[in-house]
Amino acid sequence: MFVGTSKEKFFYHNTLLCLVKALQGKNITVDLRNDSYVCGFISSVDGYMNISFTNAIYCDPQGNEYAFENLFIQSRNIRYVHVPEEVRTISMLATIRHELGYDKEVKPKKPVQKSRKAKKALQQHMQTVALLDT
Ligand SMILES: *[C@@H]1O[C@H](CO)[C@@H](O)[C@H](O)[C@H]1NC(C)=O
Ligand SMILES: *[C@@H]1O[C@H](CO)[C@@H](O)[C@H](O)[C@H]1NC(C)=O
Ligand SMILES: *[C@@H]1O[C@H](CO)[C@@H](O)[C@H](O)[C@H]1NC(C)=O
Repeated sequence: MFVGTSKEKFFYHNTLLCLVKALQGKNITVDLRNDSYVCGFISSVDGYMNISFTNAIYCDPQGNEYAFENLFIQSRNIRYVHVPEEVRTISMLATIRHELGYDKEVKPKKPVQKSRKAKKALQQHMQTVALLDT
């Protein structure tokens, strides 16, 4: 169950954020937009894809490494999230889909019955459009 604001929930249900979220509790590498990168253990991912690391190594573009016990990376600084090789992306997405109930059969909705007034108005519009044609 995803906890967050409605905006964060929207991102969880409509973007691949759910996949990054599923990487919580794993060691991964994230490339940053300024050509540095971070390797570490993901402790949490919020609904904007800001990532909190613990036991992280920050590597700057010159190749210098710095260790951080805790490191918070804002989503806007992320260029690329490396999904670990052992993670089966498709089956992971299928599991998430199942958890969210998106694989349930959807009953077709009954067509909405238009009121007589609406039908009449529609007919009139159609006539007007037909007249435009000639
Ligand atoms: C993540 O990496 C650290 C340091 O290499 C290691 O101690 C830890 O067991 C790893 N955790 C997982 C879940 O792979
Ligand atoms: C790159 O971005 C990270 C995250 O915003 C920042 O902490 C770091 O200082 C930046 N490094 C360089 C070399 O600009
Ligand atoms: C997470 O990212 C969003 C969008 O990039 C930002 O508005 C928000 O302030 C960030 N959260 C924190 C705790 O920095």
